[in-house]
Amino acid sequence: MTMTTTATKGKSTGLRHFADLRDWGAHGVEKLVALARKLKAAPPKDLPLRGKSLAFCFMNPSLRTQVSFEVAAASLGAHPVTLFFGQGTWNMESRDGAVMDGSATEHLKDAVPVLGRYCDAVALRAFPSGKTWEEDRKEPQLSPFLRYSTVPVINMESSLGHPCQGLADLMTIQERMDPRRKRFVLTWAPHIKHLPSAVPHSAAQAAVLGGMDLVLCRPEGYDLDGEVMAWLKEESARRGTKVEVTDDPEKAYEGAHVVYAKSWGALSNYGALPPQDPAFRDRWRVSAEKMRRTERALLMHCLPVRRNLEIDDAALDCPGSVVLDEAENRLHTAKAVLLELLGASK
Ligand code: CP
Repeated sequence: MTMTTTATKGKSTGLRHFADLRDWGAHGVEKLVALARKLKAAPPKDLPLRGKSLAFCFMNPSLRTQVSFEVAAASLGAHPVTLFFGQGTWNMESRDGAVMDGSATEHLKDAVPVLGRYCDAVALRAFPSGKTWEEDRKEPQLSPFLRYSTVPVINMESSLGHPCQGLADLMTIQERMDPRRKRFVLTWAPHIKHLPSAVPHSAAQAAVLGGMDLVLCRPEGYDLDGEVMAWLKEESARRGTKVEVTDDPEKAYEGAHVVYAKSWGALSNYGALPPQDPAFRDRWRVSAEKMRRTERALLMHCLPVRRNLEIDDAALDCPGSVVLDEAENRLHTAKAVLLELLGASK
């Protein structure tokens, strides 16, 4: 690892985790994407993870993440075990020193190393609580996994990042263009809920690590996390690429090579719902008309997407939309991450 991010720092165990794209750097991310593209072109004929077992732990719903990891594991010869914490397994406590007289029966301090006695890697999906960003950005669920795990940990989406999605996003772009110095527009999109910032964080990190110029287009008050933003600016400055922040979608789309749409909640007004008035929605919803301002840009979204709220049908169903490829590439990048973490990527 080139560095360890504050929020995903665990006990120094010498284990390599896939918790945050920033820990892997441009070289590490490029290596994983190259491996994923190789696996997509020619799936391995042998079973390089035969005899391994993998625990996929979910605290929140999923379609793509659960299915892509289970299929990736099985196709490499590993045995996937999927657990929905609190539904068929015990409710988990994550707070150090907690008096466990509530609904949680087991502490992650015990459960995580137990999983390590059975499995060769563990993966976690844990969305933020939505109470305070100050607490959520400390990764209250992922941090104990990193601290107590005796095997590699994969972040399947936490408060601060969704590195598996970011990897698939960069792979999808690389399949269609050399991303270096291309204009990547990350645009906020309307929603009825206050959504997590993990996907926009990792999408922006992947774009910058891929050498793209980043345009963050968001309404006032919808900035990304300050530490993430500082990293994006530092990494871009180091690479000689640009970061621009704007609240003007019409201008942002001009010359775009990629438009990445996603809704996220205001960190400065944590938990508050986004404005719902029709004019605000129209200004921020991705439309075919807005896409015509671009350089025939790819339209990306991690899915699930709320049609005609975040993105119009006419834009989502056009040839430039690569959302299904992005989803497919979750499978190939999942295989790459598993092989790399388990030392079977050669
Ligand atoms: N993009 C993504 O992570 O999808 P799921 O929430 O369905 O896993």
